[in-house]
Amino acid sequence: MPSILIIDDEQGIRSVLKDVLADEGYDVLLAEDGLRGLSLLETNPVDLVILDVWLPNMGGIDVLKKLKTDFPDIEVIIISGHANIDLAVNAVKIGAFDFLEKPLSLERTITVVRNALALEGLRKENRNLKNTLFIEDRMVGESESMQKIRAIIDQSAASDARILILGENGTGKELVARAIHLKSRRAAGPFVEVNCAAIPDTLIESELFGHEKGAFTSAVAQRKGRFELAHRGSIFLDEVADLSLSAQAKVLRVIQELTFERVGGEEKIEVDVRIIAATNKDIQKEIKAGRFREDLFFRLNVIPVFVPPLRERLSDLPFLISYFMEKYKPPKVSEPRTLSENAMRTLEAYAWPGNIRELKNFMERVNIMTEEPVISEAAVAQYLGAMSTERDTARLKEFEHLNLNQAKEEFEKEFITRKLHEHKSNISKTAQALGLYPSNLHSKLKKYGITVERGK
Ligand SMILES: Nc1ncnc2c1ncn2[C@@H]1O[C@H](COP(=O)(O)OP(=O)(O)OP(=O)(O)O)[C@@H](O)[C@H]1O
Ligand SMILES: [Mg+2]
Repeated sequence: MPSILIIDDEQGIRSVLKDVLADEGYDVLLAEDGLRGLSLLETNPVDLVILDVWLPNMGGIDVLKKLKTDFPDIEVIIISGHANIDLAVNAVKIGAFDFLEKPLSLERTITVVRNALALEGLRKENRNLKNTLFIEDRMVGESESMQKIRAIIDQSAASDARILILGENGTGKELVARAIHLKSRRAAGPFVEVNCAAIPDTLIESELFGHEKGAFTSAVAQRKGRFELAHRGSIFLDEVADLSLSAQAKVLRVIQELTFERVGGEEKIEVDVRIIAATNKDIQKEIKAGRFREDLFFRLNVIPVFVPPLRERLSDLPFLISYFMEKYKPPKVSEPRTLSENAMRTLEAYAWPGNIRELKNFMERVNIMTEEPVISEAAVAQYLGAMSTERDTARLKEFEHLNLNQAKEEFEKEFITRKLHEHKSNISKTAQALGLYPSNLHSKLKKYGITVERGK
């Protein structure tokens, strides 16, 4: 049964309401002022608050504002005397569901309570629906690093601390960002994603902060930016290292002042937004090269989360495989497929440069293409091979904007990393395979900042 908190300093009102609502079957909690009411909410799940607008200590309107920011899901009904009806009207403007005038009509009280709870129920349903659409995969994996990530998600949920998620392509950064939002008190609010790499430099400011009509030629109407759309929710600045320096300066200002102006506008817009950022770039390198502001890095990196590449958490592989086998099980097959032992070995030895996204695509493909209930090494090799050719073509595109020297260096770095992995981080074997002296290999590792993990 829904539970209702009544906040009113008049003992008479509290007890009448309590009797009526308890008769209707609701759980009822009572508080004689706002502070006590708010502290009850910290420990008791409540669906609806009935709030006197005229209260000692903290006034009803202030309590309402606090409720709306800290517990946006809870509906609020205001009780007001005839003398302060304007306060009640104001309360509805701020977000109260409705108000009841004293002396209370019990019939009307019950109707308004029912309506408010119906709306609250709808919102909840809507939110649950949204959340299931929201996360396309649950976060699978039991490795130490996954457990650490889960712990950070739980710890950071209650606060508004900014989070910077680092990790290679396809490691699950976006999944982590969404999980943080959904665990936070902002879960009912918006989650607004901005792919900073995909928006051209000339448009990024208007994308982020919006623009006024006429701010530039194509600005035919006023438009809200992503920061404004994310009000009371979270903004996810994906590929944040790709922001231009001028956009970085603007973002830094929003963080410091919590206000901004739309492009071409004067009005200061205040937003309540939690920032979650992510990048697959080596951000230290970007800072050193002068492409990323160090002060912005410190502001964004309040809680760092590193999502390691799949090849460094191979203990997650079996869990991920059975999860995706289940997910992509063809309808006519009765049991999810499994892998032969050798097929499993092949997958373990593979470097997974596209990480979990690559594994996911691979599992989907295998399930569509093969008929084997136990998938063989040969089938695995065939589809992995096909994928790496496609990926290599895509990879070459990434070099397009580099000059030859930069492209060579990128390639060298990746090639060495792969060879190291192949030789289980054994320096002398890797050096031999590369035709280098170990000392030479060492200096290259240092140059590229490649760290060698032992005992893998
Ligand atoms: N631990 C996991 N368990 C299950 N699925 C996962 C996991 N991590 C990632 N995925 C899935 O893998 C795909 C890639 O994840 P995601 O988009 O979060 O990666 P990313 O780090 O943001 O990649 P990119 O840098 O390329 O944007 C998504 O479909 C996601 O649902
Ligand atoms: Mg991503």
